[in-house]
Amino acid sequence: MRSVIDILDLSVGELDELMNTALDIAAHHDKYAERCRGKKLATLFFEPSTRTRLSFEAAMYELGGNVIGFAEANSSSASKGESVADTVRVVSCYADIIAMRHFKEGAPLVASFNASIPVINAGDGGHYHPTQTLADLLTIYREKGRLSGLTVGIVGDLKYGRTVHSLIAALSRYENNKIVLVSPNELQLPQYVIDDVNAKAKRGENCGLSFVQTNDMLEHMSEFDILYMTRVQRERFADKAEYERLKDSYILNAAKLKTAKKDMCILHPLPRVNEISVDVDDDSRACYFKQAENGKLMRMALILKLLELGDGKKPTVSGETGEFRCDNPNCITSTEQELKHYFKRDNGICRCIYCDKQVKPIK
Ligand code: NCD
Repeated sequence: MRSVIDILDLSVGELDELMNTALDIAAHHDKYAERCRGKKLATLFFEPSTRTRLSFEAAMYELGGNVIGFAEANSSSASKGESVADTVRVVSCYADIIAMRHFKEGAPLVASFNASIPVINAGDGGHYHPTQTLADLLTIYREKGRLSGLTVGIVGDLKYGRTVHSLIAALSRYENNKIVLVSPNELQLPQYVIDDVNAKAKRGENCGLSFVQTNDMLEHMSEFDILYMTRVQRERFADKAEYERLKDSYILNAAKLKTAKKDMCILHPLPRVNEISVDVDDDSRACYFKQAENGKLMRMALILKLLELGDGKKPTVSGETGEFRCDNPNCITSTEQELKHYFKRDNGICRCIYCDKQVKPIK
């Protein structure tokens, strides 16, 4: 039994296989119409979503399967104080696979340790969003014909944007990619994301990335092969005034595309607020609606793969415990009091296994 919590849970070979399946589904849709007959997907969405939940549901229906689940925490027993572990133990009796979105970082990992069916992370707080990355990779591959040798501008909320964190991890697996990080100082990419890419590159586990950091979206516009716009994540701000101040930091419009390459590809995980003005929608470089379609195809491919892998061993917690505690208020350890605080050591830094933030010594 395999779960996908982090995009790095899939090897490059498996990503290729998923993209090939997705392309085959697009070309021969009918062939797949009965592949999940008799199977159930449980969509456990503790945080609101339109695209991701509906695309998981559409994916399962198009494979001939069924869907059960809930679309907000209030309509589940979480509102009565049930733990993630108990919820998924119960759901394992009713379904064959789980797609979970949660506002707490690490909740789907906790789920994967306790469910007896595969768990797919459909977004955990400001941490990771691997299935959005599957959509992004297929779109880049279909538009550019490759996933290497690309200059990728990533713009907006790089701090809380979970799609950004997973995309960067994925792009580090391919050669010669350059990432231009464009954000206000307050919304820069968390250091743990960069540290993780660099540590893995040092050990030869990825190809590494070159990073450039700037506040100015136009400075590198002419170099981009991909321009990945993101929304400022209002729901993650403790200080609403800060959100108001930062929300319109970058707005892409037709005029700003003047210096861009003619075959640049503009992506956005959606929903957009006003980061891309509608005058860009008719530009042939705008690929964000294709991205949503590709998301459904990749989710179909992923559901098929995880169900076909069948039974196997439940993943077990790997980490140390005792010396440190996680004090990240957005981590699942902050609300699930019975959850043991596990940490891993990487490159001399101790991090929480659930949210990847640095842990603090217990006094
Ligand atoms: C993203 C998410 O939920 O993180 N949306 C999505 O899944 N397509 C991006 C966002 O909400 O800004």
